[in-house]
Amino acid sequence: MEQIIPIASDHGGFEMKQYLVEKLTKAGYKVHDYGTFSPESVDYPDMIHPLASAIEAGQYPLGIILCGSGNGAQMTANHHHNVRAALCWNVELSKLARQHNNANVLALPGRFISNELAWEMVQAFLHTDFEGGRHKRRIEKIEPIEKRNDE
Ligand code: RB5
Repeated sequence: MEQIIPIASDHGGFEMKQYLVEKLTKAGYKVHDYGTFSPESVDYPDMIHPLASAIEAGQYPLGIILCGSGNGAQMTANHHHNVRAALCWNVELSKLARQHNNANVLALPGRFISNELAWEMVQAFLHTDFEGGRHKRRIEKIEPIEKRNDE
């Protein structure tokens, strides 16, 4: 089945997002682009919350978010239940985020890495599986005890 990849950025990640949308499309993925759609200054939560809500609702298994540093995007996404957004800046980190943390959102620092590296990281993220086992126990403890719904 064709995998749909949701992607969102602010102006700080706009140019890299456009590059990644093109790469993903050429590689045969369908892309849901949550914006932003121009290099004009915007507020990253306005694009990141809608993507994170869709991941939270189970609409997509994996997503990609970007801003200048990656931090604002990651912080916003991680406010959503069942969203585990990982800020990564090399291929090894993006693989580890999947293997150990079952990250479902890759956060990229658009102003600090090259487009080529970002594309390598995206591919690694999309093709790496969660290892489970002891890592499953650990990610289940991420949510504070009082907020866990263990039924
Ligand atoms: C925008 O200038 C910048 O603050 C934003 O892209 C991001 O780095 C925030 O965390």
